[in-house]
Amino acid sequence: MDSSSPLLDRALSHARSWIASLGKRPVRPSASLEALTEAFGGALPEQGQDPAAVLDLLANAGEPGLMATAGPRFFGFVIGGSQPVALAADWLTSAWDQNAGLYVASPTVAVLEDTAGRWLNGLFGLPQDAAAGFVTGGQMANFTGLLAARHALLARVGWDVADQGLFGAPEIHVVVGEEVHVTILRSLRFLGMGQARVKRVRADAQGRMDPDALTTVLKSCTGPTLVCVQAGNVNTGATDPMEPLIAAAHAHGAWVHVDGAFGLWGAVSPRTKEQLRGVDAADSWAVDAHKWLNVPYDSGVAIVRDPEALARAVGTTASYLVRSRGLRDGVDFVPEFSRRGRGTPVYAALRSMGRRGVEALVDRCCALARRFAERLGRATGVQVLNEVVLNQVLVRFEPPGGGDADAYTREVVTRVQADGTCWLGGSRWKDRDVMRISISGWNTTEEDVDRSAAAILRCAGRS
Ligand SMILES: Cc1ncc(COP(=O)(O)O)c(C=O)c1O
Repeated sequence: MDSSSPLLDRALSHARSWIASLGKRPVRPSASLEALTEAFGGALPEQGQDPAAVLDLLANAGEPGLMATAGPRFFGFVIGGSQPVALAADWLTSAWDQNAGLYVASPTVAVLEDTAGRWLNGLFGLPQDAAAGFVTGGQMANFTGLLAARHALLARVGWDVADQGLFGAPEIHVVVGEEVHVTILRSLRFLGMGQARVKRVRADAQGRMDPDALTTVLKSCTGPTLVCVQAGNVNTGATDPMEPLIAAAHAHGAWVHVDGAFGLWGAVSPRTKEQLRGVDAADSWAVDAHKWLNVPYDSGVAIVRDPEALARAVGTTASYLVRSRGLRDGVDFVPEFSRRGRGTPVYAALRSMGRRGVEALVDRCCALARRFAERLGRATGVQVLNEVVLNQVLVRFEPPGGGDADAYTREVVTRVQADGTCWLGGSRWKDRDVMRISISGWNTTEEDVDRSAAAILRCAGRS
């Protein structure tokens, strides 16, 4: 027998019991920092330990410190669970241990990623031959899209940023919405374009960028211009009006990047796609597979209309690299050099669900978000602050005896987290404290929502 077999069997058994516990255990972790440090800290052992004992330690001491994010009642941030087929394909990806950087190093992974990319473009209604690069998440997908934008915008005015860098380069005007996600600003920071010098465009009460305000801001942009729009505000779920924004930006000669980390999935369903009308006209898009497709971490996709623009920005070569002309070399699609075959679980999820399955997942989460809003919103002293157009719900709580609703809302969030029935976080929306609920899991049911809503109301003293 292969020496790895008993270990893999052991890992499988630990994984099985973790997965079986997801719907039953408190969603929050229970282990203290002291207990985790006691179990895992200390000096590197001089002599190695039995591998089976190491696995047992991870499982037994580690599980109390895990959050049940893959379970049916985790509603924090925007975190999807793991569909069984995607998890299983992810295991296979690790067992295959392929380097996805070059076609020659793994023809299978290259073909899987090529196909998964085309399928995603088709699902979102994007140009069929746009390039899709498999990165770690929304942050890196935004970074990659903006990297391609920076390179292409400067090339248009005769500046080769790859060779010359940004010292002495023509200025790129960067325009973002008032409610831009922090990972766009962080990408700009990484790219030497500065997060504070952006021009911000006014947004409406739901966080959607105002097209008239964009037109006004664009008048002050003379020269290369990058406009970042958003599909799916992290708080409200609202999407910028793509058609007028992209038209105005393109009329100005700008590159348009769409941060669609979770919101782009709305384009898959006939019931939500209207919100994204015109999104296909952009130049680059960022989307997560670990969010709404429910593929295990980490998995994001950077999509760029012009594959050459992406390849010029990220591609590289060296004398020892075997390049395959006309075939998919991963290094032409992402900033990484060596990396895992991240597209494989995406391929498996898409193939096993089909278009209809993805559509149903999006619809189900949106319906559950509306159900949550309805259950909470009808209670006295509880207010749903956003239009529930996608999978996000913002809730605010008045103290039963009157008083500070900001402080009370924060208090209710803390109580819910400690209660353990479900887990969610807080946020600030338009200068008010809110509870944020995000429904992104394939395994959440109506019963989970009802049970969680009841727990939230109990914690708010409103049951
Ligand atoms: C709109 C938006 N963009 C980007 C991101 C970052 O994605 P990731 O956490 O996968 O890097 C998020 C995460 O919630 C998001 O909501």
